[in-house]
Amino acid sequence: MAAPVVDAEYLKEIDKAHRDLRALISSKNCAPIMLRLAWHDAGTYDVNTKTGGPNGSIRNEEEYKHSSNKGLKTAIDLCEEVKAKHPKITYADLYQLAGVVAVEVTGGPTIDFIPGRKDSMVSPIEGRLPDANQGASHLREIFKRMGLSDKDIVVLSGGHTLGRAHKERSGFDGPWTQDPLKFDNSYFVELLKKGESDGLKKGESDGLKKGESDGLLKLPTDKALLEDPEFQFYVVLYAKDEDAFFRDYAVSHKKLSELGFIPSSSDSKVESLGLTPSSSDPKVESKNSTILVQSTVGVAVAAAIVILGYFYGIHRTIK
Ligand code: HEM
Repeated sequence: MAAPVVDAEYLKEIDKAHRDLRALISSKNCAPIMLRLAWHDAGTYDVNTKTGGPNGSIRNEEEYKHSSNKGLKTAIDLCEEVKAKHPKITYADLYQLAGVVAVEVTGGPTIDFIPGRKDSMVSPIEGRLPDANQGASHLREIFKRMGLSDKDIVVLSGGHTLGRAHKERSGFDGPWTQDPLKFDNSYFVELLKKGESDGLKKGESDGLKKGESDGLLKLPTDKALLEDPEFQFYVVLYAKDEDAFFRDYAVSHKKLSELGFIPSSSDSKVESLGLTPSSSDPKVESKNSTILVQSTVGVAVAAAIVILGYFYGIHRTIK
């Protein structure tokens, strides 16, 4: 399918959908499942074949029936209410916007959202999402295929600050944190509470409350974040410093929500959310460097003309 035309009208619909999603997610307390929907639509991306990714294909029965997507039909149906009011918006944009709003309304960081994702009806084969029963090397394999880093793995796992596992969906049961409707760094704090017996280096959890919390869930993949030294570094950092978690989370979530998506223009971001492109934005940087190269070439050509003109003048005088 063709990419949507991100004109003023489309941006207006995005703004309205943003408001409708805020109201819907707050009234239905469905932030966790909305975040999971956005992640599972995006997390099928394969950086080598450029297939999968945030393209709305999770709405296909074939895909939402994958065992890892159990329970997500609820979120797909809830999004249909917003789609009916704003049919112009692609499913791909709608699901990612729902993920951004889920984090926002539960008190998490503001995530930059650029619209314009294409919809697809092509679903990837089952098995691209991570298996919660595995360890660090599996996590690396899956996230590397998406084009994501160790830091992305840890910080995005912090999404488990929201919601819970359901026995009938995944076989696991219970929430990760005491308040599963609040987006904060408590996922990391809870993970470290059992840290010393889970292989955390002595002293790493200094300054953090110790002791195991009853009834809270730790998936094998969550525990893997403690066992691997690269991962553990970020767990400790985010447990100690919520601002660092929020900053890095916003960056990695944006990356996840844009896998395989090349925004048509960075101006759409400025218009839609009233933001100024930051100079640390790689797209803005590359635009700036193009302008710089063009100006440099222009100056060089002008200088060459002046020098040639000068020598031509001397030549004529000598004659
Ligand atoms: C690192 C690999 C990951 C694994 C193995 C994993 C696995 C799981 C499992 C087994 C569940 C329970 C599902 C259920 O029974 O309802 C779950 C729930 C959830 N996951 Fe993950 N997940 C991962 C990464 C992520 C990421 C990157 C995010 C978002 C940034 C995320 C957000 C969520 C949320 C919000 C829920 C709660 C859903 C609800 O309450 O209905 N997960 N995840």
